[in-house]
Formats: sequence, C-alpha cells, structure tokens
Amino acid sequence: MNPSSLDRRSLLRTIGGIGAATAVGALAACAPSGAPVTTPNTTAPGTRSDVNPTTSPAAGKGRVLLAYFSRPGENYFNGGRINLTIGNTEVLSQLIASLVAVDTYRIEASDPYSNDYLATVARNVTEEATNARPGIATPLPSLVGYDTVLLGSPIWNVQEPMIMRTFMEGVDLGGLKVHPFVTHAMSGLGNVPANYARQLPRSTVGEGLAVRGEEVANSRPAVEAWLRRIGLLD
Ligand SMILES: Cc1cc2nc3c(=O)[nH]c(=O)nc-3n(C[C@H](O)[C@H](O)[C@H](O)COP(=O)(O)O)c2cc1C
Repeated sequence: MNPSSLDRRSLLRTIGGIGAATAVGALAACAPSGAPVTTPNTTAPGTRSDVNPTTSPAAGKGRVLLAYFSRPGENYFNGGRINLTIGNTEVLSQLIASLVAVDTYRIEASDPYSNDYLATVARNVTEEATNARPGIATPLPSLVGYDTVLLGSPIWNVQEPMIMRTFMEGVDLGGLKVHPFVTHAMSGLGNVPANYARQLPRSTVGEGLAVRGEEVANSRPAVEAWLRRIGLLD
C-alpha cells in the first residue's frame, strides 16, 4: 500500500465533516512529497509548570495561562507520515511561551493516545461518536487570577480533540478571554471557534491562530503578529 495514498484516504475519512470539494482542494495544497522519516522536532520536551499564577504579567497585559494538548508520534506530514518526538502543538506552545509571559499547563490524557496515526484516528472517531470526555492525568489548574487563556490543540476531524472538552468543563473559564490556537494539516481552525463559543458562553472567545503542523518551526512571524493583534505583545 502506498503510504501517501493510504494517508490521504485516512485523512479524508478523518475529515469527513467538511465538503468533498474543500477536502480535495486542501489535499491538493498538501501535495505528497514522499513519506519523511525524520523529525524536525528534536529539542527536549517542554516542562510543565505547576499552575496558579507564577508569572508577572507584562504591563497592561493581565495574567495569561497557556493550556495545550499535543500528541507526539506518527502524524501527517506533507502527504506522508512523520514520527514527531515533540508534537506540533507543543512546539507552537513553546514558541508562544518564549515570546510572552505565560504559565503553561499541558493537558495530558490519563489513557495516553497511541503513537500510531490510524489507531488515533479510530479512537477519535469513537470518542466523538460517544461524546466522550477522555480523562486528564494531572490535577486541573485553578484559573483564579488569570485574565486570558490561550487554548492550544491539534485539529482532529476538523475540530478540537474531545479531551479539550474535558478540560473546558473541568475548569472555570467564566469571565476570561479565551484565544484558541491550533496546528493542523489543512483545516485551519476548522470548527474550533464556533465550538468554543458554544461551549464557553460565559467567556469571550477571541481571535484564534492556526498554523500548519509542517510549518510550526517557521511560524514565529505569524505568531508574533497574532500576539500583537490580541494585545499580548507590543
Ligand atoms: C486523529 C487525527 C485527526 C486529524 N484530523 C485532521 C483534520 O481533520 N484536519 C487537519 O487539517 N488535520 C488533521 N490532523 C492532523 C493534525 O491536526 C496535525 O498533524 C497537527 O499538527 C498535530 O498536532 P500535534 O502534533 O500537536 O498532535 C489529524 C491528526 C490526527 C492524529
């Protein structure tokens, strides 16, 4: 089986929620370039800070929590596959954390997701179909004292992984500004802004950021521009 076509078919299955024309057009943009086996993400994994405000916010910016979920392992890469040592969203999270003062909380599944791509696609299909709330391994943070939450995840089936809903229901985001950021193969922010606005009626869901997984290492200009637009960077 050609790994690229297998991959594209499985991604098409994965993104069954979007129109065929959109999916095909987007796939054309992700032209196959073979199945790379090396990983661009070779730095040491980020450490998780224990949360409750520890950073001093930059003047006028308020306190910011960056909470993210990311899954290392086999993933989509330019029409092929790649084995990521560090997940794309974690790389993006580290970049954001290097640019603004944030506390960081990593959303970790109690039952870790497989390194295998198709196994993860299958698990996600089941979790969506059953409206699951996958468990989170570590105590949830208190959001008392925060003004803004940057909420990061990969895009799975054109939306957030269900574990993000576990997180959103487990913490009190009421009254806070929430900015989603995602990494993806082709779907951009997908349904995330609409889903978060619906799931967080007492929060202000502001502008999100979408970065292609293949481009996280080169995304600093886009990230800085986004941070400026949302008022976190001068
Ligand atoms: C289960 C699964 C479903 C996915 N579904 C989509 C999708 O619908 N649209 C898309 O653009 N990318 C999709 N992707 C690709 C990921 O969003 C992308 O590779 C992302 O950068 C992975 O981030 P991570 O390494 O932090 O987990 C999917 C990946 C997986 C594992």
